[in-house]
Amino acid sequence: MGSNGALTFDVEKNPNAVPATEREALLQNPGFGKVFTDHMVTIRYSENTGWHGWKIEPRRPLALDPATLVFHYALEIFEGMKAYRLPDGGATLFRPDANARRFRNSAERLGMAQMPEDLFVESCRALVRFDRDWIPSSEGASLYLRPFMIGSEVALGMKPSSEFIFCAIASPVASYFKGGASALTLWASENFTRAAPGGTGAAKCGGNYAASLAAQAEGLREGCDQVVFLDAVERRWVEELGGMNIFFVFDDGSLQTPPLTGTILPGITRDSLITLGRDMGLTVREEPYGMDQWQKDAESGRLREAFACGTAAVVAPIGKVKGRQHSFTIGDGNAGLIAGRLKAALTDIQFGRAPDQHSWLDRLF
Ligand code: PLP
Ligand code: COI
Repeated sequence: MGSNGALTFDVEKNPNAVPATEREALLQNPGFGKVFTDHMVTIRYSENTGWHGWKIEPRRPLALDPATLVFHYALEIFEGMKAYRLPDGGATLFRPDANARRFRNSAERLGMAQMPEDLFVESCRALVRFDRDWIPSSEGASLYLRPFMIGSEVALGMKPSSEFIFCAIASPVASYFKGGASALTLWASENFTRAAPGGTGAAKCGGNYAASLAAQAEGLREGCDQVVFLDAVERRWVEELGGMNIFFVFDDGSLQTPPLTGTILPGITRDSLITLGRDMGLTVREEPYGMDQWQKDAESGRLREAFACGTAAVVAPIGKVKGRQHSFTIGDGNAGLIAGRLKAALTDIQFGRAPDQHSWLDRLF
């Protein structure tokens, strides 16, 4: 800590930082998660010393012993959050306190050290301020932050780690989906589930994503964009996508999203859209929705829209659903009106175009 109580990071500037002209060219068309800024934050934890050694350093490979716990027992958690460029040239994070809380919860579920929330948020702020020239200014683009933590003790015994490395990297991003805004086709996974009661579904740990990739590969083979997972017990209730929550919009204007029963990631976008939907006067239910009912409602026209949401994906309309036992189109198969209104309400706040009525922004400069 510095004398004013603020965290002070040891700073090592990247001697090979990307030159400004090259950076500007990269920011024109960054895609998702392929371009990275010049620096990263690292912080260490050990049972004896606690959290220590906070650094801003050049983005570079982490050198780890091959017997490090993370390689063997997938001891890893992560977060996803974005920094947005504001109309006056400043920048803001969106609800970083919520990411910090979820990071702690994920750590608790995996038996990892729980990083204090202010340390987590300060690390993200410090990285964005240091690499501020990497925040894109183009429409809809932002700087995606990926804080993560690994069990770094060198041991093959199956045990909780006594050492951890926290690292935060940053990546300028545009749309998560190639081709931008067209409606998604989902593959309803009947062979594979993502999370079971008592498991790690509500934690943001790498293992959940690894476990969903065979289903994603199956979905891609079937010509779909993303997988929608059903509950592991009855194989009936719609849960979420591999990296997004899901909402349904009905003909009476109401919204519904699956409840947080422990097998679904508690999305910060989900939570924000519930609030914004209610602000618009819409009824929003957190209730289970069955796969068969989904098809019936889509066919009868009772269901008007469905959309996925998350930090990376923002709001992504769903046009079609396919599976071994299901095949249906939602509405006319294109982006719906309510999804568009909610996306605009959310992104107008994030990019500083609308008042921040819920104090969600964390202004950086
Ligand atoms: N569900 C899963 C499995 C995710 O990976 C994500 C992305 O972070 C979400 C939902 C959406 O969460 P958030 O809105 O906090 O990004
Ligand atoms: C995010 O939206 O931040 C995620 O972590 C989802 C991931 C699939 C990119």
